[in-house]
Amino acid sequence: MAVLKKIRSRWWSPAADEYPVEPERAVPAAAGLRYDIRPLTISHLDDCWRLDQRCFVDGEAYSRETFEYLLTAPEAVSYRVTTPSGTMVGFVIGLIEPDHTGHITTVGVSPDHRRRHLAKRLMAEVEKGFRLRNVRMVRLEVRSLNIAAQKLYQSLGYAITQRLPKYYSNGGDGLLMIKSLD
Ligand SMILES: CC(C)(COP(=O)(O)OP(=O)(O)OC[C@H]1O[C@@H](n2cnc3c(N)ncnc32)[C@H](O)[C@@H]1OP(=O)(O)O)[C@@H](O)C(=O)NCCC(=O)NCCS
Repeated sequence: MAVLKKIRSRWWSPAADEYPVEPERAVPAAAGLRYDIRPLTISHLDDCWRLDQRCFVDGEAYSRETFEYLLTAPEAVSYRVTTPSGTMVGFVIGLIEPDHTGHITTVGVSPDHRRRHLAKRLMAEVEKGFRLRNVRMVRLEVRSLNIAAQKLYQSLGYAITQRLPKYYSNGGDGLLMIKSLD
């Protein structure tokens, strides 16, 4: 369970050469693209892992093994967003916990496709998936310094309920956010 807790909490940092040191400079993709939301499965492991490394550049990226675990877990509810050419540009992975709450473990959108409500659509889809499985409460943890993600979650009705001191491996604090699906 301890390992599972680590996986679910973005607790450990990968080796320094597993993710880019310099954040990439995002060049916005063409406007008017039509995006699709589709299930995310183990067949998308490598694409998801690479995209995660582009989304989480400050040492928070998951290892390939973590994604392998998450994408094969029977309690996972996961989606990806694709461009018309089939390129994955966003993903979300939720887990149904033993107490039957939904837990958003990770959500990310490619830097060049941000602010197009893709994360919003992914979150709506995972919440729909949770509802279908009779989940009534969703929780997630977010870095206290990650204002973009907090604004996203707040815009979707998540509320901060607790500060989690030194929650992250580099000592950063986390915030617990929850939302009722009723
Ligand atoms: C956080 C993240 C997933 C948002 O993805 P996105 O597709 O750009 O978000 P959306 O377009 O759906 O944003 C929906 C709303 O969230 C808020 N929001 C999103 N990004 C924001 C930002 N950079 N600054 C302020 N508000 C932001 C806004 O209210 C936005 O609505 P608006 O554009 O109409 O104002 C994306 O920035 C990302 O991948 N970041 C790195 C990974 C990460 O931090 N994941 C969350 C870990 S807890």
